[in-house]
Amino acid sequence: MLTIIDVSTFYGSVPVLKNVIIEIPKGSITCLLGSNGAGKTTTINTVLGFVKPSAGDILFNDASIRGLPTEAIVSRGIGVVPEGRRVFPKMTVEENLLVGASCSKNKANIARNLERAYTMFPRLAERRSQNAGTMSGGEQQMLSISRALMSDPQIVLMDEPSLGLAPLIVNDIFATIRQINKDGTTVLLIEQNAFKALAMADRAYLLQKGQVLASCTENTPEAKARLKDIYLKSTEQAH
Ligand SMILES: Nc1ncnc2c1ncn2[C@@H]1O[C@H](COP(=O)(O)OP(=O)(O)OP(=O)(O)O)[C@@H](O)[C@H]1O
Ligand SMILES: [Mg+2]
Repeated sequence: MLTIIDVSTFYGSVPVLKNVIIEIPKGSITCLLGSNGAGKTTTINTVLGFVKPSAGDILFNDASIRGLPTEAIVSRGIGVVPEGRRVFPKMTVEENLLVGASCSKNKANIARNLERAYTMFPRLAERRSQNAGTMSGGEQQMLSISRALMSDPQIVLMDEPSLGLAPLIVNDIFATIRQINKDGTTVLLIEQNAFKALAMADRAYLLQKGQVLASCTENTPEAKARLKDIYLKSTEQAH
């Protein structure tokens, strides 16, 4: 569904991504692992058009989206749960959700998606009129995920959805991601909670210094164990 083909990017003259190849099949949970500064967020930002690739191509449903404006990319069916949540603090929960639906003109659809968000996270329903900035970290993450789903994306790109959350809430977030995927949305998941993410993923890529160091393209315990091994060795080297 989403294919990153040999993509390289620069921030100014500093190379960040180097010949990155990532394939995200329709219906999968694909996980992107890597230590701080490996280029995970940059990968998402490149897909979304915030960062322009200097080489390579990005295909969504077999059509190139390279160089398109972000709005055009998102409206093709790509949702994002950005790093650090980024809810609008002075807007209510419901207003935040409606921002996620602003590309949609179908009122019945919007109402249905609001209902879906409130069913998935009853906490959001209770707090629909509360300002998002006064919500707890976990609640803001629930809101950020729900906002991304308001546009019925085909794929949702999640940048560290469990960061900074208590273990019980992390479990909730992971269960939600699994459910979203079961309901038909393809997921690209960036996680530092690497083994938990790997356990849930259909395939995974390990980024190091802007390059794909290793990948696991079959959903088998052996393939995952191999990637886990390489991951552990690479983090040992980094420290
Ligand atoms: N706007 C920017 N300008 C210049 N350099 C940047 C910019 N954003 C990121 N970088 C650099 O690019 C590299 C990759 O950053 P990126 O944010 O993609 O890493 P990451 O894998 O998401 O890390 P983290 O796990 O800490 O979120 C880092 O060395 C970072 O300093
Ligand atoms: Mg990041």
